[in-house]
Amino acid sequence: MGCKITGWGKALPQLTVTNNDLAAIVDTTDEWIVERTGIRQRHVATTETTTDLASEAGRRALEQAGLTPEDIDLLICMTITPDAIIPSQACLVKARLGLANAVAFDLNAACSGCIYGIDVASSMMAASMGGIGGCQRNPIKNALVIGVDCLSRIVDWTDRATCVLFGDGAGAAVISWDEEEPGILATYLRNVDDSQLYLACDAVYDLSTLPFPQSGTPTPVAVIAGTQPAEGGEESYRPFISMQGQKVFKFAATVMAEAVETVCQRAGVPVEEAACIVPHQANERIIRFASKKMGVPMERFQVSIEEVGNTSASSVLMALADAFEAQRIRPGDKVILVGFGAGLTYGALMFQA
Ligand code: ACO
Repeated sequence: MGCKITGWGKALPQLTVTNNDLAAIVDTTDEWIVERTGIRQRHVATTETTTDLASEAGRRALEQAGLTPEDIDLLICMTITPDAIIPSQACLVKARLGLANAVAFDLNAACSGCIYGIDVASSMMAASMGGIGGCQRNPIKNALVIGVDCLSRIVDWTDRATCVLFGDGAGAAVISWDEEEPGILATYLRNVDDSQLYLACDAVYDLSTLPFPQSGTPTPVAVIAGTQPAEGGEESYRPFISMQGQKVFKFAATVMAEAVETVCQRAGVPVEEAACIVPHQANERIIRFASKKMGVPMERFQVSIEEVGNTSASSVLMALADAFEAQRIRPGDKVILVGFGAGLTYGALMFQA
């Protein structure tokens, strides 16, 4: 398809929280966190909003692409922690950046957001520029996709099993129409029902105003998902991220390999020809496990988790910006992005730089 990633950027909150900082508030140690996850610190938004971080990452990506705000025809914000329910996060960022001509909307695919967002943006671009089915659409020559999350808002800071994992940040990419470029070579998106709620969060921001269920009554998410009460108790309201870590670990390590193999098959490109694989940064051990399963050496994976933790929808786009900045990706290189997250969602895509 005729497009190219022409810009990238990331933005992080000022405050860094080290493992030792967390060891002062929950029963954990730097050694445990580093050994089990590869994370040494994360950034936490204290004064910054989701809009601030997303806008800064987007501004940097536009600058990198050499475009003005008026050049952007489409903005998709991938997030699970928008500043408001309405207007959407994308509408807030559109206004902040002055993207006068952009159509803007949000996409929630949790940590797989980057893969879903780039697939949707590039498909809309192809449909509008290629005139699929003779249908006249808004022409989309330049799209901005921004993955942004401030998970610190929905993390239970008393739960050592989750609070050590997550961080805040934003990553962005500009996708530009270019008939000469092959662009996105293949994509693969999948959902698996999370019927046991491995990953869930019922949080809505101002909890004090909600008539939310009493402890012990089924939660909205549990009712909709049709989950069985957890062993030894009933499903109860979960205002924070709740996660069955080992279950997610196994799921992630398995589907990462499946997704990468599938995009390689679809693109007709063996995995050995990919210059760089940029995975969701949830846990360095998951990446190592997948690397072994795929028989691809770790050196070919972009690993950025050490200083930022798991930043959810921002993670792959921030790591992609790191890979571009480190010149690990050169013009013509084939690059694979792969993600997984709540939903459960997962997927991968291959593009030519
Ligand atoms: N510090 C010290 N000990 C801890 C900590 C901690 N921070 N957290 C858990 N432990 C303890 C547990 O209580 C347990 O103790 P026990 O043996 O006495 O019962 C022990 O460490 C081992 O716990 P496990 O859960 O078995 O540890 P594991 O090796 O599985 O690592 C982890 C846990 C890091 C959460 C891992 O399972 C993981 O990374 N899972 C995947 C997480 C993930 O990818 N999430 C994606 C989210 S995507 C999204 O959409 C948000």
